[in-house]
Amino acid sequence: MTPLGLYVHWPYCARICPYCDFNVYRARPIDAAAWSDALIADLAYWSACIEQRPLTSIYFGGGTPSLAPIAVIEAIIAAAATKFGLDEQVEITLEANPNDADENAMRVLAAAGVNRLSLGIQSFDDAALKFLGRDHDAAAAERAIASAAKIFPKSTFDLIFALPDQSDEDWRNTLRHALGFSPTHLSLYQLTIEPGTAFAKQVDSGRWAPAAEERGARQFEIAAEMTAEAGMSAYEISNYARPGHESRHNLIYWRYQDYIGVGPGAHGRLTVDGKRVATKTLNRPEHYLSHTVEKGAGVETSEVLDEEAQLVERLSMGLRLVEGVSLFADDVFYRNDARADRLAQLVADGFLSHDCGTLRATALGRPVLNRLIYELVS
Ligand SMILES: C[S@@+](CC[C@H](N)C(=O)[O-])C[C@H]1O[C@@H](n2cnc3c(N)ncnc32)[C@H](O)[C@@H]1O
Ligand code: SF4
Repeated sequence: MTPLGLYVHWPYCARICPYCDFNVYRARPIDAAAWSDALIADLAYWSACIEQRPLTSIYFGGGTPSLAPIAVIEAIIAAAATKFGLDEQVEITLEANPNDADENAMRVLAAAGVNRLSLGIQSFDDAALKFLGRDHDAAAAERAIASAAKIFPKSTFDLIFALPDQSDEDWRNTLRHALGFSPTHLSLYQLTIEPGTAFAKQVDSGRWAPAAEERGARQFEIAAEMTAEAGMSAYEISNYARPGHESRHNLIYWRYQDYIGVGPGAHGRLTVDGKRVATKTLNRPEHYLSHTVEKGAGVETSEVLDEEAQLVERLSMGLRLVEGVSLFADDVFYRNDARADRLAQLVADGFLSHDCGTLRATALGRPVLNRLIYELVS
């Protein structure tokens, strides 16, 4: 059966990190019952629209869903089980920040059905954590990783590299430290300066400069080497796992399968009556709540994607995966001669491989993936 995922966005954070451009808001007192009702109404809306099948994954992302009242998490899991059914192997992930996920809170989440915890660790260096505006220190990060590994069948954590002034040796030390926990899954992100963030303003005003492109590429290579030595495979451009520990939910995105998005600013991609539909809910929490009460759903836009738009999305997502993306018999791709020529050139230059209809980024292409995708689809 085709996988089906559910993404639930919790938009609040204790504080807003200076690098982050997600749809996030400072935490404030909230009405847990109103949130449960809205999210469940939104779920019910989609369950009536799409082909009924059990959910293979639920992902509580944010924002900081570890700040959501446990009653909301429980209510959503229960409603998802009633309205869709849960696959026997359902993966239920929740993103957590180390400071609000002590061992007790983790046990409560596990009892509610969460079976995979994703921790935002970012660094083990207190000065780097301060620079990143995090409210936890290295000791809290370490405690959270150890507890998550004990309590959840699956866990993972995020680190950020290519920080200003981070030497290759600093990054190696961070990775050594991370791998010392014998993680089964890791997400390693290169620091990106997103427009409109506090970091973008600091960089624009000359307070500091981002890492040079070559350092970013070198530190990406260091991550690839060290995780491979530790027996983890780089199954996606930023994600590393031991066999069997790949994120089932994120694979749905990258394989361009179906997922429902509920909560403020959530995106979904669904097959409705044979058409590929892109959905997006209202961004602002108060608008999302009132709209859901009045209209029975939080969706702001839903757009049917034509073949060309689907191709662009499928390539952008699929090329991130080591398994690549199948273009076999994809005449939408080959109908465009200029694009087919660009593909041939990127293969000849060693950035992409194209075997039996499957397109993959090579080791040379992976560090410059965003540029390759842009060249291929523009
Ligand atoms: C949505 S955040 C959620 C996790 C949680 N709220 C936290 O911050 O710990 C997912 C991850 O994206 C990464 N991230 C967000 N913005 C980034 C940026 N500008 N550059 C690099 N990584 C970023 C961070 O590693 C973060 O943990
Ligand atoms: S990085 Fe995480 S905690 Fe920080 S603002 Fe973004 S979502 Fe919130």
